[in-house]
Amino acid sequence: MRLFSAATLLFAACPVVWAQNATLVPGLIAALNAAGLTSLANITQGLNTTTTGGAILTQLQSGRSFLIFAPSNEALAAIPSNVSSNPEILNDIISYHIVQGNFSGVVTNYPNVTLGRTLLNDSRFVSLEGDQAQALAWANRSDGKFHILNQRLDPTIQNTTVFGNITVNVINHVLEIPGTFGAIVPQDSDALSGFQGVSKSVSIDFFNATSNSTANITLEVVLNNGLHGFTLFAANNTGLAAAQGALTGLGVNTPALDALLENHLINGSTVYSPNLVGGDRISAAGQTFSFSINSTGQYVTSGGTTALIVQPDVLLYNGVIHVIDRVLFNTDTNPSAASSAEVSALSSASVAATAEATPTGPIGFSATASLASATSTGTSSAAGARHAPPRTRHILQIAATMVGVLAGIVVIV
Ligand SMILES: *[C@@H]1O[C@H](CO)[C@@H](O)[C@H](O)[C@H]1NC(C)=O
Ligand SMILES: *[C@@H]1O[C@H](CO)[C@@H](O)[C@H](O)[C@H]1NC(C)=O
Ligand SMILES: *[C@@H]1O[C@H](CO)[C@@H](O)[C@H](O)[C@H]1NC(C)=O
Ligand SMILES: *[C@@H]1O[C@H](CO)[C@@H](O)[C@H](O)[C@H]1NC(C)=O
Ligand SMILES: *[C@@H]1O[C@H](CO)[C@@H](O)[C@H](O)[C@H]1NC(C)=O
Ligand SMILES: *[C@@H]1O[C@H](CO)[C@@H](O)[C@H](O)[C@H]1NC(C)=O
Ligand SMILES: *[C@@H]1O[C@H](CO)[C@@H](O)[C@H](O)[C@H]1NC(C)=O
Ligand SMILES: *[C@@H]1O[C@H](CO)[C@@H](O)[C@H](O)[C@H]1NC(C)=O
Ligand SMILES: *[C@@H]1O[C@H](CO)[C@@H](O)[C@H](O)[C@H]1NC(C)=O
Ligand SMILES: *[C@@H]1O[C@H](CO)[C@@H](O)[C@H](O)[C@H]1NC(C)=O
Ligand SMILES: *[C@@H]1O[C@H](CO)[C@@H](O)[C@H](O)[C@H]1NC(C)=O
Ligand SMILES: *[C@@H]1O[C@H](CO)[C@@H](O)[C@H](O)[C@H]1NC(C)=O
Repeated sequence: MRLFSAATLLFAACPVVWAQNATLVPGLIAALNAAGLTSLANITQGLNTTTTGGAILTQLQSGRSFLIFAPSNEALAAIPSNVSSNPEILNDIISYHIVQGNFSGVVTNYPNVTLGRTLLNDSRFVSLEGDQAQALAWANRSDGKFHILNQRLDPTIQNTTVFGNITVNVINHVLEIPGTFGAIVPQDSDALSGFQGVSKSVSIDFFNATSNSTANITLEVVLNNGLHGFTLFAANNTGLAAAQGALTGLGVNTPALDALLENHLINGSTVYSPNLVGGDRISAAGQTFSFSINSTGQYVTSGGTTALIVQPDVLLYNGVIHVIDRVLFNTDTNPSAASSAEVSALSSASVAATAEATPTGPIGFSATASLASATSTGTSSAAGARHAPPRTRHILQIAATMVGVLAGIVVIV
């Protein structure tokens, strides 16, 4: 697999000093207790015993807006004792329940998915570009409830209370932190068992920047822990089966197969569904991805193939998968386009990283808000016009990688 190359670029940490309000957390704890969330109140009381917990408290005391997905007492009682008795792990889990920003008045009619940036940024549990914190996705569904996505126990929001700038959504199950490709795909999406099989059988010459050496490893291993920030469009089993003949025709481990795989991947950028609008992206093979939304759904196009996104935002430890209904049959490459896309991503990376340090609302909100009436008006051209304006804010971009001079290999940092 020939991707672009990269070398490490370290951004100086940008400490942001917030005016701290020492009475805010005690007030929050009292509010949690008053709402019957006594177990979460107790855990909040103990946050100061770990570094992660201390960082959560610092954030909460800032007075900024947060959305807390607050597990009920029953939900917290179900946490295994080896986790509940381990404040390091417990506080990381709690950090995944706190989303940064103000979500009041967010329109989620279409495509219904809202994503926010949590406080989970422990490198043991998340490895996104620019050391960004992990995202959380939720959606309103036809049952009228808000479901947290990518969760085996399907938690839903039970009720909501507000404490100052902090909105507390009570949920009925503790949230699971997104895992690796190999761990998540079998749990989350039966539709990807075929693709997972492919990922185990395709081998890739992978340059590992940490060990400064190239190894022949499977695509599955590359996706599990080789990439730090990626977006993968993965065909579901039906789509893969339909392409079987054409794929077999490419043979195994050929340049054409490499190109085809790379044309399903955006390397270095984790692009969630609200940002799959309004502008093109460049694949790892240097080809253009374009996107559209109409009343029948959200689409991605590469080469001559347009695929429907059947399941957006399958969140992973180190990226995101969007499940599509067919293989994007594009075997063209443009290595210089792939490289220059990386260079341009890099130039805005520090800006993006700074912007992301203090998210104020949903990921990609400005793009999706305008889609609110897409389903009700129903005409694809009108919907297209409404979401055409360019994004004003990038959540994605690479902040930890830059393009180097090595050609013809994948690089990790
Ligand atoms: C600090 O937080 C408390 C509890 O929310 C609030 O009542 C108080 O007004 C805040 N003080 C300042 C200076 O923001
Ligand atoms: C409250 O938290 C402490 C640790 O901070 C724990 O030892 C105790 O069991 C918790 N109590 C309840 C009722 O959850
Ligand atoms: C944490 O805060 C509680 C009061 O909320 C206090 O009793 C305890 O000493 C603090 N622990 C640390 C390690 O600061
Ligand atoms: C927090 O709430 C206060 C009013 O209570 C408001 O003035 C302030 O703008 C809010 N801050 C944010 C970041 O929303
Ligand atoms: C807790 O125990 C379960 C089952 O024994 C195990 O799978 C899990 O990894 C443990 N978790 C931690 C944080 O030790
Ligand atoms: C989106 O939400 C609306 C309610 O606002 C619901 O009627 C519709 O079924 C939802 N769509 C999906 C795909 O869940
Ligand atoms: C919110 O839900 C929790 C958990 O189900 C429950 O304990 C609490 O009483 C509810 N609060 C309100 C105001 O309904
Ligand atoms: C990586 O290995 C090459 C030889 O394969 C060597 O020339 C280069 O200096 C090494 N780079 C680092 C950073 O060790
Ligand atoms: C990688 O190893 C597999 C067998 O493990 C082999 O079939 C394949 O040709 C190798 N690929 C490269 C690029 O060396
Ligand atoms: C890259 O090399 C490091 C150090 O040897 C190793 O820990 C890591 O697992 C390697 N990554 C991959 C994807 O093989
Ligand atoms: C929506 O776009 C897709 C892909 O271009 C197209 O196949 C479909 O017919 C369009 N649906 C409507 C209702 O325009
Ligand atoms: C793949 O997506 C298509 C389009 O939504 C759907 O008809 C098909 O059932 C899906 N296949 C699987 C295995 O989920």
